[in-house]
Amino acid sequence: MTQEDIRQVINAVQALDAKTAKEVEEARVRFLGKKGIITMLFEEFRNIPPEDKKLYGKELNMLKQQAVAKINELKSIAETNFACEVSIEDLSLPGFEYELGSRHPVSIVRQEIIDIFRKFGYDVAEGPEIDDDYHVFGALNFPPNHPARDMQDTFFVSTGHPNPLLLRTHTSSIQVRTMESRKPPIRVICPGRVFRNEAISARAHCIFHQVEGLYIDKGVSFADLKQSILLFAREMFGDDTKIRMRPSYFPFTEPSSEVDVSCNICHGKGCNVCKGTGWLEILGCGMVDPNVLEVNDIDPNVYSGFAFGMGIERIAMLKWQVNDLRHYFENDLRFLEEFNTAVEV
Ligand code: PHE
Repeated sequence: MTQEDIRQVINAVQALDAKTAKEVEEARVRFLGKKGIITMLFEEFRNIPPEDKKLYGKELNMLKQQAVAKINELKSIAETNFACEVSIEDLSLPGFEYELGSRHPVSIVRQEIIDIFRKFGYDVAEGPEIDDDYHVFGALNFPPNHPARDMQDTFFVSTGHPNPLLLRTHTSSIQVRTMESRKPPIRVICPGRVFRNEAISARAHCIFHQVEGLYIDKGVSFADLKQSILLFAREMFGDDTKIRMRPSYFPFTEPSSEVDVSCNICHGKGCNVCKGTGWLEILGCGMVDPNVLEVNDIDPNVYSGFAFGMGIERIAMLKWQVNDLRHYFENDLRFLEEFNTAVEV
């Protein structure tokens, strides 16, 4: 063996080209197998005169390392090629399944509500989920320490401040922000996520979604409110839907009302969804309190308006007869996939 022999083998290893796993294995046997070229050179090493052993030993070790590295490299390339070849050559193999996502039921209903009110001429307005006391309560006629604040048990982000930050409990805060930035006529709906410190149950959650609406112009009356809600209910639940209004209380509207729709399952006859009453509550509403207009620099002697607010999950529960609000938050695919067909592309 001469140094020239070793160099030739190094060149041969570097020039190695093997595409398939079989070719790589053949190359490995040829160079590193029991009777492989490199193994034979190691055999011959025994006969090298002692004074040359150091030099030859170093070169042989280097050669072996290079050969092992090269073979490994070719092997991993061949494996990748194999994966590609299989999928290209064997067209009868099953394809990769494409998992198509679908819209969440809350998003579907949210969009439906928005589309209905868009037809009535409403714009969509959005606002921050972390807001301050003034926009969530103060500007909506909730005086500090007023018991009406108990209706909406609040998560505070910061306290000990005259205007603390908090997670909004309703999207009425967006209505305040809209009144601050626009002059009447105003016609907006405000969809968004809201937070209340409520125990989680089939009927309540600490996070849910609302769409609230606000209409302010000259001469807006309670009759306009009633008609708008009726039209919305019919678009949402069907042409034969009836509504009824019950007196209620909200600090920012006067008079205030809660609205029920006729049960779309039993059509008013009474069933377990409507608990035998024939009616289902869908939203709260009322005429904007003159104090709220005034605080927001809108003259209540010139303008009047109405506001309404509804929970999206509640509407979705009624629409699809889902009896537990928690399903909307658990992201159980078996539940979510029920709504696949509802996606419009
Ligand atoms: N903001 C009220 C709530 O979250 C709903 C509402 C909006 C009531 C507008 C009346 C008018 O409960």
